[in-house]
Amino acid sequence: MSSVLVAGGLRGIGKALVKQLRASGQHQVIATSRTARTWHQKDTGLIEANLDLAADQSIEHFAAKLFGQVQQLDWVINCAGVLHNEQFQPEKTFQHWTAERFEQSFRINCTGHLLLIKALAPLLLKSAHPLVASISARIGSIEDNQLGGWHAYRMSKAALNQGMKTLGIEWARKYPKARIMLLHPGTTDTDLSKPFQRNLPDGQLQSPEETAGMLLNQINQHLKQGSAGTVFIDYRGDVIPW
Ligand SMILES: NC(=O)c1ccc[n+]([C@@H]2O[C@H](COP(=O)([O-])OP(=O)(O)OC[C@H]3O[C@@H](n4cnc5c(N)ncnc54)[C@H](OP(=O)(O)O)[C@@H]3O)[C@@H](O)[C@H]2O)c1
Repeated sequence: MSSVLVAGGLRGIGKALVKQLRASGQHQVIATSRTARTWHQKDTGLIEANLDLAADQSIEHFAAKLFGQVQQLDWVINCAGVLHNEQFQPEKTFQHWTAERFEQSFRINCTGHLLLIKALAPLLLKSAHPLVASISARIGSIEDNQLGGWHAYRMSKAALNQGMKTLGIEWARKYPKARIMLLHPGTTDTDLSKPFQRNLPDGQLQSPEETAGMLLNQINQHLKQGSAGTVFIDYRGDVIPW
């Protein structure tokens, strides 16, 4: 059985991924949330753990606990992300953009993610086939930016992409078996997209279950055929320009 960490695994896309990973019977899953207890064996094959990517100490505590509990980690799938919360909505114009909004988005969507990978790398790189799958967003593509708006989210996802691409170059030299993926999940019916679903064309909104199935398919295909370095692809496997 492989060990898979799904950060942000108790809500939205992450929750659907956890369900499908467990149903395959091939994975021991560790699912994190800010609302979970510190470390809790929920069920056979499922551990729930507390993790707040906005707090360095939470990442350190979680990593220390994980090192004490598992021999190795095979996959990290990070689904944690923020577009809006109680304090802010995504910016319609640059005049709405603020340092505070940007720093909060950046902290969760980029910095927290990279700190988590840094903390867990020694455990992950013990695996014969280590994988990091970061749920990014097409909107983080600089080349694909046709519409503008949503400045903080765009910038934080672009920075995440650059961070993982840079790590991918380093790992390709030292750990050629390691795989790094940046995945655009497609517009999915979760709390994150709820306020923005009104004007979507028919058929564009995926259920979390559909998205999870397609993302796992991309992960499994990449593990079979993919090369070292970092890929930025969508749920169908189409390459997204950086
Ligand atoms: N839905 C879409 O249409 C869409 C499109 C493109 C990209 N994405 C990306 O897909 C990923 C999953 O989003 P979703 O649609 O499933 O959204 P969601 O239902 O709103 O879930 C957001 C997740 O992020 C976690 N999270 C938020 N702040 C966190 C923090 N400080 N520390 C740790 N975890 C934190 C939440 O965990 P807790 O609240 O349980 O702690 C939750 O699991 C995100 O990275 C998002 O940017 C989504």
